[in-house]
Amino acid sequence: MGFSEVLRAATWSDHASAEDDGYLKSLMAGRLSPEAYGAMVAQHYFAYLALDGAAKALADHPVAGAFVFPELYREEALVRDLTTIFGANWADHIEPSKPTQTLVARINQVADRPGGYIAHHYTRYLGDLSGGQFIRMELQKIYGYGRGGGVDFYYFDIGSLPRFKDEYRRRLDALDLDEAGQQRIIRETKLAYQLNTEVLGDLGRLARAAA
Ligand code: HEM
Repeated sequence: MGFSEVLRAATWSDHASAEDDGYLKSLMAGRLSPEAYGAMVAQHYFAYLALDGAAKALADHPVAGAFVFPELYREEALVRDLTTIFGANWADHIEPSKPTQTLVARINQVADRPGGYIAHHYTRYLGDLSGGQFIRMELQKIYGYGRGGGVDFYYFDIGSLPRFKDEYRRRLDALDLDEAGQQRIIRETKLAYQLNTEVLGDLGRLARAAA
């Protein structure tokens, strides 16, 4: 089994908890206002500033550099989405939640180690390229957003997504890892799932309080 399969198998139960989140369920069921959806976009904004910032710093790294993809950077897409949802003064509407602050702190803490960076990058981007595409299609039906703002976060100009994901998995398989190195990435990926799920849990509490 290649490492991409090992990683997926070892963390798929963590994926189930993330996918089962109540906020995402309410969002997919069309029960949330555009602003309540925008609250998640705002949290993505802070998390991806950190993640893409880590990527930029690692661009020339001999190992992590294989997982730096400028074409995936999300800041510009997120700004278009936030502008569409909240208007030109979107920055006045958003701040990082406590769980997002924890996630960002963790990304920054581990970002100088290739395995730490790869774990967080994999958890977010392979998800955005997978289930994220389903989420985008549902959001477009619910809110009527087109390309150009609203759900641009989920649009990637990388050609065939399956081909990109295959190449990503090939790079995971090509990592030169002993058992301990594999376990370190698996542990950090589980933590990345947990921290991301806590961000969603907090959004769910806010959405329930506002309902
Ligand atoms: C409505 C919520 C979600 C749905 C329906 C969903 C669905 C899926 C599906 C169908 C795949 C498999 C795609 C494939 O084999 O190519 C997948 C993969 C993945 N998802 Fe999700 N997902 C959701 C939420 C999440 C969340 C919240 C995260 C992370 C925070 C996440 C992270 C991932 C990752 C990392 C993979 C790649 C696994 C791998 O193949 O190694 N997903 N998702």
